[in-house]
Amino acid sequence: MALRAPGTKAIPSQYYPRTEDSDAHSAKEVANHGQQPMMDLQKLMGWFSVDMGIDLGTCNTLVCVRGEGIVLNEPSVVAVRKGTNKVLMNGTAVGFAAKEMLGRTPGSIQAIRPLKDGVISDFEITEAMLKYFIQKVMGRSRIFGPRVVISIPSGITAVEKRAVLDSAERAGARKVFLLEEPMAAAIGANLPFDEPTASMIVDIGGGTSEIAILSLADIAKASSLRVAGDDFDESIIKYLEEKLGLRVGEQTAEQIKIRIGSAWPLQEELAMKVRGRDVQSGLPRQIEVNSIQIRDALAEPLKKVADEVVKTLREADPELAADLCNPDLANNGITVAGGGALLRGIDKMLADRTGLVVKIAEDPLTCVARGTSVYLENLEQYKSTLESDVEEF
Ligand SMILES: Nc1ncnc2c1ncn2[C@@H]1O[C@H](COP(=O)(O)OP(=O)(O)OP(=O)(O)O)[C@@H](O)[C@H]1O
Ligand SMILES: [Mg+2]
Repeated sequence: MALRAPGTKAIPSQYYPRTEDSDAHSAKEVANHGQQPMMDLQKLMGWFSVDMGIDLGTCNTLVCVRGEGIVLNEPSVVAVRKGTNKVLMNGTAVGFAAKEMLGRTPGSIQAIRPLKDGVISDFEITEAMLKYFIQKVMGRSRIFGPRVVISIPSGITAVEKRAVLDSAERAGARKVFLLEEPMAAAIGANLPFDEPTASMIVDIGGGTSEIAILSLADIAKASSLRVAGDDFDESIIKYLEEKLGLRVGEQTAEQIKIRIGSAWPLQEELAMKVRGRDVQSGLPRQIEVNSIQIRDALAEPLKKVADEVVKTLREADPELAADLCNPDLANNGITVAGGGALLRGIDKMLADRTGLVVKIAEDPLTCVARGTSVYLENLEQYKSTLESDVEEF
């Protein structure tokens, strides 16, 4: 029986405890548990706290709340006074407010993206960002910090995990659970990941491409490649500079990728005007760029992603590989999630390389957050399977 993201298909009740399990206890229920002071304390804390799921992404952070779904979706950016860790606007120059400043910041202001390649590269700024998002979602009414489920790339080191745990705890969480992103992405994409047949998810984010084959609610084979959307943007910057003599910033490169980028020839090729600085003269210049050129620019990082997908498939158990190409199984083939799934023709390119059916997940940018929210709704059932450290009190 499959766990599925809320709002898509009903989750069987045994997997999907109702919110009153934690939040809406009656006075009678509390009285009945008088002999269990520790349990009551936990329940009591539940009234004055919330359970939160956080997809802490290189580009975007999404937060979901138990019983409410996704409540926040903002860029993972923080604006600070240059040379300090002091977040501007009294600690609120985070997310959309900070992204506005990125690339156009005056000398004294610096906009920082505290995650790189899916992991924390700036601990203090990540903490400030999490603190702001947690407080924004929690409001001021809650007395106790939230229990938080945070999704993390599958391939990260113990030190990188520790950084996530510590920054969330310092940002105010009273208990932190870690959930591997491919699991969350698979649930969010409605893959029957807990059935005895294989399914495959490729989550192409900003910093990492998470590739995983899942079966029986576990990751059977996974690879976390530190090549994803940010590298696509960098390749566009490099191409424009080397081939067309135009220097552009990261935001312009991302816009080009979104507006005319592709991984496979388009029925109708696209073009757009791009403004930047002429490499030779150093003066502002506008040129026209087309989708064939951008496909050329993207070829190298896209090949790395496709090569890793092929490698993961080659290393998979033959029985699992057999499931993935079985046309009788509804979820055969590969499902692509993350912002990279929106790149035109990514499905055709991966299908060409692997020979498998490739589908794009519904609303790929929110898959991990929606999957995390399913874990959150079932936290009491799943918390023993999730990695965490401090004891819950
Ligand atoms: N329409 C689009 N076409 C191509 N790329 C897109 C599109 N929309 C968003 N992206 C890219 O998707 C990436 C962000 O995706 P996502 O939010 O899944 O990443 P993330 O979760 O923040 O990163 P990660 O999981 O690697 O830490 C960015 O590189 C962004 O440019
Ligand atoms: Mg992600």
